[in-house]
Amino acid sequence: MATPACTFVIFGITGDLAARKLMPAVFELHKQGSLHPDTRLVGYSRRDWDDAKLRDEVKKALKKFAPKAFDEAAWEGLAPRFSFVSGGYDDAAGFSRLAEHLDSLGHPNRIFYTSTPPSTYGGIALHLANAGLNRSGGWTRLVIEKPFGNDLESARELNKIVLEHFDESQVYRIDHYLAKETAQNIAALRFANTIFEPTWNSQYVDHVQVTMAEPMGMEGRGGFYDETGVVRDVIQNHLLQLVALTATEPPSRYDARSVRDEKVKVFQAMTCADPAASVIGQYRGYRDEPDIPDGSRQGTYAALELTISNWRWAGVPFFIRSGKGLRSKSSEIVVVYKRPPHIPFELRGPVKPDRMILRLQPNEGISLRFLAKKPGQGVSLSRASMDFYYDEEFNKGGRDAYETLLEDAMMGDATLFMRADEVEAQWRIVEPVISTWENAADDPAFYERGSWGPDEADDLMIKSGRSWHVPQVD
Ligand code: BG6
Repeated sequence: MATPACTFVIFGITGDLAARKLMPAVFELHKQGSLHPDTRLVGYSRRDWDDAKLRDEVKKALKKFAPKAFDEAAWEGLAPRFSFVSGGYDDAAGFSRLAEHLDSLGHPNRIFYTSTPPSTYGGIALHLANAGLNRSGGWTRLVIEKPFGNDLESARELNKIVLEHFDESQVYRIDHYLAKETAQNIAALRFANTIFEPTWNSQYVDHVQVTMAEPMGMEGRGGFYDETGVVRDVIQNHLLQLVALTATEPPSRYDARSVRDEKVKVFQAMTCADPAASVIGQYRGYRDEPDIPDGSRQGTYAALELTISNWRWAGVPFFIRSGKGLRSKSSEIVVVYKRPPHIPFELRGPVKPDRMILRLQPNEGISLRFLAKKPGQGVSLSRASMDFYYDEEFNKGGRDAYETLLEDAMMGDATLFMRADEVEAQWRIVEPVISTWENAADDPAFYERGSWGPDEADDLMIKSGRSWHVPQVD
C-alpha cells in the first residue's frame, strides 16, 4: 500500500545511521511501491553538500550497505526526489532556509527525523518550532532516535522541550527492536491463539530470559559507547521493551494507545533493577580499542534480574543480558516452564523443563522444546523440538525494522514507537544499576571475546538454581 505523499526530512543524512539503515529502508519502500510518487526526501546536515553530492553519496551508501537490493533503474526513479539543505542543528538561519525550501516543495505533510547525536534532539525540536515547522497545513511528525535522554532527569527534560512544541501524537520515539518481526509476533502468538496464553503466567512459567548478544566490538563507535555503556545503549530500551511485550496483558485493540497503555502498566509494576542482582562486565581488549580511555570501567555486558509485581508475574524472575564481543549475534526470549508436579516414569537424570524460544535473530522464528519418548522398549525420555522458521513458512525472512518504522511513521501509526511515559518509566527501572555502578570503583567482570559473558553472570543464575539458555549458533 502506498503511503501518503509527504516530505521526509532527515537531519544528519550524512551520518552512519542514514547510510546503513535509513537510505536502504527508503530505497526498499520505493522499490516495493510503498513510497508515494510525490514524496520528497530532504537531507539536512552541517556539511557543505548540494543536491548532486547528496544523490551521489546516497547511491554509494546503497551500493555499500544494500548491494543485493541495489537496482540502477529503481535508483534513477528515486534520485531526483532527493534535495539537500546545509545548516547546523543549533542554527536558526539553517532552519529558516529549511522552512523556505520546504515551502518551495509545496507539500504540507512532513516528517522530521533526527538521525543526529542525541545531544541535538531538544535543539532540533526547538528550532523547528521557532521556524514555524512544528505545524503545517497537513500533518507534521517528529521521529526521534534513541537514546532518548541519558537518564531519567534528562529524558524528562527532553520530553518537556519536545512536548512544549509538539503534541504527543506528533512524536515518534524510535526503538527499532519493536519493529523486528518476532517482536511483533509476540502479540500474535499470545493473543491470536488459545493454546499459549493460559500457561503464560506464574502458575506455569518458572522464569523468562531475554538475551541480546553481539560478536562485534566497537567498530569505530568507541567514543559514543564509552560515554553510553551497555545499560543505556540497549538494556534501557531494546531489552526492557522485549520484557514488556512478553509480560503485557492483552490489549483490547492492537493500536498505539491500547498497546502502550498495557506496556506502561508492566513498567510500573517492574521493580527497579537491584544493583546487587546485576552484573556489569567488559570484554578483554575493550580498553585497547580506539577512543577508549585507559582503565575505562564502562560496561560492555550487563545481566540483570527484574521482577514484575503483579498478579500474573509475581515470583517469576526475568533475567536479561546483553553484551558486545560475545560468541555470536543472537537475540532471543526464552520462556522456561515449571517442571511437572509428578513424572510417572523412571528417570535417569533431572528433567529439563519445557521452554519456548522466540528468536529475533538469527533464523527468526519460534521453537518449543519438550520431552518425548525415545523409540524403543520402555519409556526413556529425550528432548524434542517443534520449530517454526519465518523464512521456511513464508518464503522470506523478516523485513528490516527500519522499513517498517518509516512506513508506519508515514502512515501515522505509532504502535511500534515509544510514548513519553514509557521512556521515562524505562529509565526509572535501570537508573539504580547505572548510578550504583558509576559511583563504585571496582573493576567490571571481565570476559573473553567470543564467550557468552563473564562467569559472574553464570553465578547470578546458579544462585537462583537456574542456568542461561545457550543460543543457537549459526
Ligand atoms: C543499537 C545499538 O540500538 O542496536 C547498537 O546502539 C547495537 O549498539 C544495535 O549494535 C543492534 O541492533 P540489531 O538490529 O543489529 O540487533
